[in-house]
Amino acid sequence: MRRALELARQAWGRTHPNPMVGAVITEGGKIVAEGFHAKAGEPHAEVMALRALGRRPAAAAVLHVTLEPCCTHGRTPPCVDAILAAGFRTVVVGARDPNPAHAGHGLELLRAKGVAVVEGVLGEECAELNLIFNHWITRGAPLLALKVASTLDGKLTLPAGQGRAITGPAAQAYVHRLRRLFPAIAVSADTALADNPRLTARGDDGETCPVRFVLDRRFKTAGRTGLNLFQDAHRTRTIVVGLGAAAKKSDLAWYEAEGVRVWTLVGDDDSFLQVWAERCAQEHITGVLVEAGPRLASSLLTAGSVDYLYAFVAPRSGDPEAPGWQDGLTIPAGRLRASLVGADALYQGFLR
Ligand SMILES: NC(=O)c1ccc[n+]([C@@H]2O[C@H](COP(=O)([O-])OP(=O)(O)OC[C@H]3O[C@@H](n4cnc5c(N)ncnc54)[C@H](OP(=O)(O)O)[C@@H]3O)[C@@H](O)[C@H]2O)c1
Repeated sequence: MRRALELARQAWGRTHPNPMVGAVITEGGKIVAEGFHAKAGEPHAEVMALRALGRRPAAAAVLHVTLEPCCTHGRTPPCVDAILAAGFRTVVVGARDPNPAHAGHGLELLRAKGVAVVEGVLGEECAELNLIFNHWITRGAPLLALKVASTLDGKLTLPAGQGRAITGPAAQAYVHRLRRLFPAIAVSADTALADNPRLTARGDDGETCPVRFVLDRRFKTAGRTGLNLFQDAHRTRTIVVGLGAAAKKSDLAWYEAEGVRVWTLVGDDDSFLQVWAERCAQEHITGVLVEAGPRLASSLLTAGSVDYLYAFVAPRSGDPEAPGWQDGLTIPAGRLRASLVGADALYQGFLR
């Protein structure tokens, strides 16, 4: 199962709206074939492993798969049928599929045909791998994750003259992996203007660009030449989100000429974040990582909009003049888990 998880992760961030899934076939305790789901529309992991095997599995072969095999026709035929046709007598499963159309049903079908099913092997890890899919498929809403890089005294900016990078290289690399995982990233207009971020995922395996939202209720970024989000090679992946009532024709024409998309929302200052999330759901954007400054973070938390928190905390102090980011933050004990990423702490978990 550990190997199957590694295989699943080879498609890190590339399977939306589908989950990442890995599969391993063993015979006599030895791995004889491997597969993973590479992207939506392509064969599922179990089928890829069977194809890699290229023959009928031995009578005592075992299939290990990180997620419950599907039992309905989607873009591909049900994997349960392929597993039965291949003659597997034992199937080891990591996590149950939370998709209400599947949830446990695939396992029941296998058991009904006399297949021995072992479930929950590395179950938590297998479920966590697909936190975006799990949320999307059960709620029909994007997983909204808030990411902050905070100092120990709760500031998101450093004192003047100390640069901008609060966390160390390991935490920064981790954020780039998150950017690769999430189909979309969001920043506020103020942060776009102050930091001029690129919001691309950069790492050993090159650069990828998620959908990049600029939350800009009053279109104050209109006419601002020089922003990476508006002029780099990925600018058609940038979407400026503002209120329809604040949209001037000349501003909209400027964005269009830059090749940047615009969403004009029907709502007001208070409903903006909610209406934006609803539009994301309509557009099948399954998850958004919000890299918020202090005021946007507080607004999102106060509105109860944050599903998942990634709070990096660096062992240093921040700008004493800067506002805190934690207004509206309520965390029941035991909800978040802590880990060390380089010299920084990471607290992460579901807030609701
Ligand atoms: N350490 C970190 O993790 C981190 C991350 C990002 C930014 N930062 C730092 O934060 C600083 C910027 O801080 P800031 O407080 O000025 O920016 P901010 O936290 O990004 O918040 C201000 C922006 O958020 C928007 N906003 C606030 N409440 C909103 C709501 N309810 N609905 C829609 N939009 C809302 C505002 O929109 P309107 O313009 O419409 O009012 C404004 O553009 C920069 O120096 C940057 O370096 C740090």
